[in-house]
Amino acid sequence: MANIVVTGASRGLGLEFVKQLAKFSKSPKIFALCRDPQGAEKLQNLANGSPNVSIIKADMTDFDRYNEVVSSIKEQTDSGGINLLINNAGMMLKDTLTSVKHKSLIDTFELNAVAPLLFTKALLPLLKKADENALPLKVGKSVVVNISAHLGSIEENTTGGYMSYRLSKAALNMVTKSAAMELKTSNIFVMALHPGWVKTDMGGEQAPLTAEASVNGMLTVISKADESHRGCLFTNKGRKIPW
Ligand SMILES: NC(=O)c1ccc[n+]([C@@H]2O[C@H](COP(=O)([O-])OP(=O)(O)OC[C@H]3O[C@@H](n4cnc5c(N)ncnc54)[C@H](OP(=O)(O)O)[C@@H]3O)[C@@H](O)[C@H]2O)c1
Repeated sequence: MANIVVTGASRGLGLEFVKQLAKFSKSPKIFALCRDPQGAEKLQNLANGSPNVSIIKADMTDFDRYNEVVSSIKEQTDSGGINLLINNAGMMLKDTLTSVKHKSLIDTFELNAVAPLLFTKALLPLLKKADENALPLKVGKSVVVNISAHLGSIEENTTGGYMSYRLSKAALNMVTKSAAMELKTSNIFVMALHPGWVKTDMGGEQAPLTAEASVNGMLTVISKADESHRGCLFTNKGRKIPW
């Protein structure tokens, strides 16, 4: 049986990932991580109607609790392995060169770049134990997907702004590339995705894409990913974004 972990599952894209994966025909077990399960009403309702969704309390910047979180996932897996990890939790500030502050820069960096790196590290034993062929993946038995952003591209940055967010996502892109190279021989595949500009609390009302369309696109890209995607950043529509 396939096992999937999604971080930041209380709302926005994380919640939508859980929703769509819960309907998946092979009905994988989905571990929906969120920092305040009591306050995540939509996720609670989803889990109540989907026996394969398990909510686990996890603040992704509470690094000292990672072992506890991983143990709790491990206890609930049949095979003990994880086939898909979606590092989705994130935050964005609209700071600039003149407004950027030390604390918010570090907070953004910790959540958007340090957490996906250290959580992937913590989950490695379970990623290595994943059942072969439990998910229809072309690229190995387990996949780590880092939800990055187009704003993290250095080459396609023509406006500046979003200083702490850009820095953190550029770092996440390096995490993706380096982890992908280190894990190349281990059958664990690592890639990054840009969801598009999406109507969520982060993306705002003016965003052209619904969370449903974005996640549907990202899941299609993941299912079709091949060697050309390893360690790279792609959009929800399958375009490769240059670093
Ligand atoms: N929306 C877009 O247009 C867009 C574009 C490019 C990239 N992205 C990326 O897509 C991902 C999801 O974004 P979104 O639009 O869904 O954002 P969102 O609506 O603001 O949701 C953010 C999610 O991250 C969680 N989160 C924040 N801090 C956390 C922490 N310390 N520990 C655990 N979870 C935490 C939030 O949980 P709480 O409910 O507890 O706060 C929430 O579930 C992010 O990585 C973002 O950078 C989004």
